[in-house]
Amino acid sequence: MKANLLSSLILCSVLAAPLSAQAEDGGMTEAGRQIFNHNCTACHSLEPSKNTFGPSLIGVVERKAASMPRFAYSEAMKASGLTWTEDNLRKWISDNEALVPGTRMRHVSITDQAEQDYLISFLRSLK
Ligand code: HEC
Repeated sequence: MKANLLSSLILCSVLAAPLSAQAEDGGMTEAGRQIFNHNCTACHSLEPSKNTFGPSLIGVVERKAASMPRFAYSEAMKASGLTWTEDNLRKWISDNEALVPGTRMRHVSITDQAEQDYLISFLRSLK
């Protein structure tokens, strides 16, 4: 109990540290986490291999599209033949319906290059 309290205090002070004090990558990943929380967590769980309304995104970078077992992907996604390279992820989050017409995922539009960088950095950290 005491140890738990202590570790959460330590965690809090780590999270409260200004972004500039963190390593560049850590800062980007953290910014990406916030964008993810804001735009994606409603449908994508961060628990490994747990599908909610959307498929789990753990390990999504370089994964083949529509490859999570037990998730009911749209026919469009299954037929897309895509691999989630950084380039395709960029296209997906800037306009998913243009990349895969007929997808079941609600339209998202993150077109700001820096926001895309942060989000992709965060997705890469999901292992
Ligand atoms: C309203 C719910 C919803 C939101 C919000 C949402 N998604 Fe999705 N996402 C889905 C669904 C449903 C699918 C499956 C689409 C299909 O089969 O056509 C999906 C599929 C994906 C895939 C393909 C995964 C695979 O296994 O092939 C990626 C990558 C993805 N989403 C990323 C994101 C990101 C990043 C965000 C936030 C910017 C986001 N999604 C927001 C519901 C959502």
